[in-house]
Amino acid sequence: MSGTLTEKVLEDHLVEGELEPGEEIGIEIDQVLTQDTTGTMVWLQFEAMEMDEVQTEIAAQYCDHQTYQFDFKNTDDHRFLRSAAGTYGAYFSRPGNGICHNVHKENFAAPGKTLLGSDSHTPTPGGLGQLAIGAGGIDIAVAMGGGAYYVEMPEVVNVRLEGELPEWATAKDVILEMLRRLSVKGGVGKIFEYTGPGVETLSVPERTTITNMGTELGATSSIFPTDERTEEYLAKQGREDEYVELAPDADAEYADEITIDLSEIEPLVACPSMPDNVVPVREVAGEKVDQVILGSCTNGGYEDILPAAKMLEGREVNKKTDLIVAPGSKQASEMLARDGWTAEMMAAGVNFSEATCGACIGNGHVPASDSVSVRTFNRNFEGRSGIEDDAVYLSSPEVAAAAALKGELVDPRDLAEELGDMEAPGFELPDVYDGSKADLITPDEAVDDELVKGPNIGDVPLKGALDDEVGGETLLKMRDNITTDHIIPATSDILMYRSNVPKLSEYTLSRVDETFPERALEADGGVLVAGENYGQGSSREHAAMCPMYLGIEAVFAQSFARIHKANLFNFGIVPLTIDQETYDKIEQGDDIHIVDDIGEGVRNGEEEFTISVNGEWEATAHLDASQRERDILAAGGKLSWTKEQSLGD
Ligand code: F3S
Repeated sequence: MSGTLTEKVLEDHLVEGELEPGEEIGIEIDQVLTQDTTGTMVWLQFEAMEMDEVQTEIAAQYCDHQTYQFDFKNTDDHRFLRSAAGTYGAYFSRPGNGICHNVHKENFAAPGKTLLGSDSHTPTPGGLGQLAIGAGGIDIAVAMGGGAYYVEMPEVVNVRLEGELPEWATAKDVILEMLRRLSVKGGVGKIFEYTGPGVETLSVPERTTITNMGTELGATSSIFPTDERTEEYLAKQGREDEYVELAPDADAEYADEITIDLSEIEPLVACPSMPDNVVPVREVAGEKVDQVILGSCTNGGYEDILPAAKMLEGREVNKKTDLIVAPGSKQASEMLARDGWTAEMMAAGVNFSEATCGACIGNGHVPASDSVSVRTFNRNFEGRSGIEDDAVYLSSPEVAAAAALKGELVDPRDLAEELGDMEAPGFELPDVYDGSKADLITPDEAVDDELVKGPNIGDVPLKGALDDEVGGETLLKMRDNITTDHIIPATSDILMYRSNVPKLSEYTLSRVDETFPERALEADGGVLVAGENYGQGSSREHAAMCPMYLGIEAVFAQSFARIHKANLFNFGIVPLTIDQETYDKIEQGDDIHIVDDIGEGVRNGEEEFTISVNGEWEATAHLDASQRERDILAAGGKLSWTKEQSLGD
């Protein structure tokens, strides 16, 4: 059978199911990663499932989202994570060592291997031919314990790259072009597989910028074949022995094909406040820019920052604008410093940050009110920067550096012409990646052998088996595209409560309606109603765990984002889809009850349920779930289900 590259890697790891789009498949996981805001729950769940030791080839715990340790609660979390990594046999990356995807790419990402991560940008190492998928924390805990990961087999779409990028156009512009064409929903249920003659013109870091932002398309994953460029990258990281040649068959069949002519790509920006709100920079040139930030898991590498450094060399950042550089990893920081680029950039007016996610989730460098920020990040959802009325543009490092120099949005080609002496910096890899590894603690070097739980580390909330009756007051009716940032924000003021669910729940959906958490507690349960693409954004399972804690029994939405829907199953909340007419008719405050015996219906594979609204009218809601997801829901969530399973073994 001829196959796509995706099918080949999946075939090698398949433990259950068939590779038919829409069918649930179980796959073996080789590597897992987790980060500080999702990791505490992963390890608490690992402990609650009475697991002894990590079973995957690699498990890595990173501390990247909240590295500033504003108070003891953050430090408590990091100390707990170090103790869990040491106790159970995972690598531990200290706070400040860098963003999970960057550090994982440098040290562990390997062609042909599977990676599951409790972060939505886990697909980043697809640029090295790794099949990497983001999932909820409990799925990570199960995979770490040796369990398979279950996912609906996505459609595999071929993105054929032709030609070569012209000067000033970058890999970031390629993925922005994909978002411009396909939108934030364009990748739902899909894996994008990049092929064609344009592939060899892109280095691994350029490829990983593209695979990283496949997440913004809603894709399950994105993957490139491997070639000399992959081998070159691995060799420069001192890991050439991990190279494996991977390619789709010549006659591989794809569900769809998209062609991108790289030679036609030009500098683009995603305008506020959606990553798919993409236009050529020239269309918004002249917009005054107050702040520019270079970094993140999308463009935080040494090679990403280098072009901006070359543009800044011997010049000065505009007096109207602040320029912050937050390298994606300590390897990048160290190499930029050794090569003298840090001093050059500082001389130009750059303010350096430690290697962290930081500003990407509103942790530090929050923009001033009514100001414009240009960032090389992957997301610009409203309010994500830490201020509600933000105006964040997403761009390549070249466009960001040009904005910092000019003090306004400008196409770097036009700035180069204006300045007369600024050459296109191009994109180059260093001769060797030679950052130290002092901050990556191997399982052999672990200093802890038991869990250290400070007062901020709470218990894992549990829910009982699914009731026969589900329903209640519509506590909130929401619009389309509600993100996990809306459900549980990731801002620094509450990030430390990720390991304290009762406290964190006080913030649930408060960005949509600040009275919601209190109303939910008072009502002692109820339901939520939402439009399309409910739960897009991050993998954070707290966006399901906190509503569960508040007693939410079901979510009625027109459609769900993939990871969030899985998280709802994992925490025993019934995710039901409704049509436009039903959505339009329901009002906040309405009483919605499922007429049928839902417990029995879920177990027996019923797909349609009748709902009664205020006892006055009825409609149909759909449950699209595999038998395994139904069993998880019936058990009251994945933790209870996994415990039931191991008791039955
Ligand atoms: Fe961190 Fe932002 Fe990436 S939060 S993992 S830099 S999307």
